[in-house]
Amino acid sequence: MLKMVGVETFYGKIKALHGVSLGVEKGQLVCILGANGAGKTTILKTICGITEPEYGTIHFNDEQIDHKDPEEIIKMGISHVPENRRIFPELTVNENLLMGGFLIKDKDLFAERFEKVTAHFPVLSKRSSQQAGTLSGGEQQMLAIARALMLEPQLLLLDEPSLGLSPKLVQEIFTIIQDLHQAGVTILLVEQNVNQALKIADYGYVLTSGKIFLSGTYDELYEEEKVREMYLGEGKYVRRARLWRS
Ligand SMILES: Nc1ncnc2c1ncn2[C@@H]1O[C@H](COP(=O)(O)OP(=O)(O)OP(=O)(O)O)[C@@H](O)[C@H]1O
Ligand SMILES: [Mg+2]
Repeated sequence: MLKMVGVETFYGKIKALHGVSLGVEKGQLVCILGANGAGKTTILKTICGITEPEYGTIHFNDEQIDHKDPEEIIKMGISHVPENRRIFPELTVNENLLMGGFLIKDKDLFAERFEKVTAHFPVLSKRSSQQAGTLSGGEQQMLAIARALMLEPQLLLLDEPSLGLSPKLVQEIFTIIQDLHQAGVTILLVEQNVNQALKIADYGYVLTSGKIFLSGTYDELYEEEKVREMYLGEGKYVRRARLWRS
């Protein structure tokens, strides 16, 4: 469904992505793992047209998208939930969802999607007229995901949905992602919560300094000593997770 080949993205003269190649098949949940500044967000921004790659190609359903406008890419079926869940804080939950469906002209279709999406997030139905800025962090993340789902995307891009949430909410968000995956939504997930992300993913790519360093299933990556040390074993991420829990 999505194929990225040899992509290089720059910010001015600084190269953020060094020949990144990756693929996502229909129905898959694929995750990109990596430390701060590795280039994870840049990959998602490059896919959805916010930044343009200098070199390389990106195809979505066999159509080349690497120089298309973000709006065109959304219309083709790619929805992006950016880092830090950018909802509209002064609008209500319902109004935020309306904004998510801005490309839907048909009222009945809109109502149908609204029902379907809020069914995944019962808490949002309860809080439909609450100002979004007053929702908890986890609820705001759910709203950001729900808003992206209003367009029934073929591919959902999620940028660190668990960031800054308490362990209980992290669990809830991962359960929702897993449910969406089981419902057939194709997902490309960026996470630093490596263990949990890899466990629910079909395939993972490990990114370091703008390069894909390794890729594989949970079992395959677990076999790699470096990944185990850095992300799954006694590395800083696990220590940080333990601190959280204690
Ligand atoms: N707008 C920008 N201008 C200049 N440099 C940028 C810009 N955005 C990102 N970068 C740089 O590109 C590199 C990759 O950044 P990116 O945001 O993709 O990393 P990331 O893996 O998402 O990190 P994090 O886990 O902290 O979100 C970093 O070195 C960052 O400083
Ligand atoms: Mg990022």
